[in-house]
Amino acid sequence: MNHIETFDDHIDLRVLAHDLSALLIKPENSDIAEEFPGSVSRYTGDIETVRSNLAEALADCKPGIRQQFIAFSGTQSVGMSVIRFADSIPRGIQDTWPNVSGFICHPFRSQGLGGLSLAARLAVVRDQFGGDAWTQVKKTNVPSNRMVSHAGFVKTSETDTHIIYAYHA
Ligand SMILES: CC(C)(COP(=O)(O)OP(=O)(O)OC[C@H]1O[C@@H](n2cnc3c(N)ncnc32)[C@H](O)[C@@H]1OP(=O)(O)O)[C@@H](O)C(=O)NCCC(=O)NCCS
Repeated sequence: MNHIETFDDHIDLRVLAHDLSALLIKPENSDIAEEFPGSVSRYTGDIETVRSNLAEALADCKPGIRQQFIAFSGTQSVGMSVIRFADSIPRGIQDTWPNVSGFICHPFRSQGLGGLSLAARLAVVRDQFGGDAWTQVKKTNVPSNRMVSHAGFVKTSETDTHIIYAYHA
């Protein structure tokens, strides 16, 4: 069954490291590395290093500061998402609004997990982060632009490559 879980102490980091790294190295998931190069480099390669990087990310998760979520297909971890305060923010976005982002790996896309994951993040944005958030999506990324628009994000600006969206509960 597809579902989303909060990234906390109940997650087995070694199993998560195995699941994510195996999916992220597949060529069909190379768009995730383009969007999130830092995450993919931390979550691929030597399993003990990936486990340790996941433990570091987990230690940074605190209510109202940073929260991460794992997308599951049955018992397999197939995606990850985060609410966090970004180092740099685009024009029209306030620094009190957290950024939301995430990915679902092939072959588990187009089954509703991306939408479920975003809904889970927005519930936490409302509960812990004051109800405002922002994200950015490549103009060419049709599923993601649909997903954020249907979740209530509104376009605030755009660059040559990306659309910037804000969410207000
Ligand atoms: C964006 C992403 C998270 C969507 O995940 P997903 O599990 O496929 O999402 P869903 O199945 O919930 O579908 C989300 C929307 O995209 C649409 N969609 C799904 N697959 C699609 C496809 N191949 N073509 C067009 N639209 C598609 C769905 O119909 C849905 O739209 P709806 O809200 O109108 O129902 C996933 O494609 C991904 O990880 N992409 C790479 C990383 C990325 O771009 N992240 C977003 C930037 S933060």
